[in-house]
Amino acid sequence: MKVYVAEGSGFCFGVKRAMDLAFKYARDNRDKKVYSLHEIIHNPQEVKRLEKAGARHAEKISGIAKGAAAIISTHGVTKQEEEALKEKCAAVLDTTCPYVRKIHNIVKKLADEKYQVIIAGDADHLEVRSILGYAGADAVVVAKAQDVPALKLKEKVGIVSQTTQNMDAYLGLINEVQKKAFVNRYSEVRSFNTICDATKNRQAATLALAKKVDVLIIVGGRNSANTKRLFELGKTVLSDVYHVEGAGEIKKEWFGGKKAAGVSAGASTPERAIIAAVKRIKLIGENG
Ligand code: F3S
Repeated sequence: MKVYVAEGSGFCFGVKRAMDLAFKYARDNRDKKVYSLHEIIHNPQEVKRLEKAGARHAEKISGIAKGAAAIISTHGVTKQEEEALKEKCAAVLDTTCPYVRKIHNIVKKLADEKYQVIIAGDADHLEVRSILGYAGADAVVVAKAQDVPALKLKEKVGIVSQTTQNMDAYLGLINEVQKKAFVNRYSEVRSFNTICDATKNRQAATLALAKKVDVLIIVGGRNSANTKRLFELGKTVLSDVYHVEGAGEIKKEWFGGKKAAGVSAGASTPERAIIAAVKRIKLIGENG
């Protein structure tokens, strides 16, 4: 059985930057208690590795000891959380991905100019929650185009997306808002392409791979939005697509009679997890 890996799999720029900064920070602050507010990235194995290096994970600011050193995760936090952290902690490292930070700046400017901000994304996701914190009191989060008709919109609207959204779904949502604005004669709709290139490229590579193989394995955290998106995308062209967090979850029965297998991975999946998955599939192939 041939095994192919999707082009560009492994840590994206923002995740690599955050992990490098966080590990160095944990090393440099050995004399203090170090905490990461929220998971540094959405990959449980990597969160554990950082904990071993000295930076424990806290879900709330109340779980962080006063005077500790804190790390802001790659998904960012709200302005209020950032201020509360700076007030409570001796030092704060911000590893917010620059692409997420760019969205914070866009929505803040829109809100200052009295636009109502629409965020296309998953309301429960940390990144969306952090964006919402900069987007003004009228901001709304919309998961899909079908939810747009029920929205109450203001005269001027600005639309941004979570960095990991699918481009076609986002364009469909923008189109619905435009239609609604046209019918109701709102004065202005502005839209911004805030989908990250790393996401776009991974999605395109995964789709191409799904068309070429008989079975596709997506490796990455179950709580990783971009990994879940790759799984959904693979499923649109192939029925045998499986999402695993590590090589140990890959099952022999998925490969019976298959000639070509593919491996793709989310932006928060380390290279060694991809190598381990490939090894496991090859071993299954060799042993029939
Ligand atoms: Fe940043 Fe894009 Fe990665 S938003 S964290 S470079 S997927």
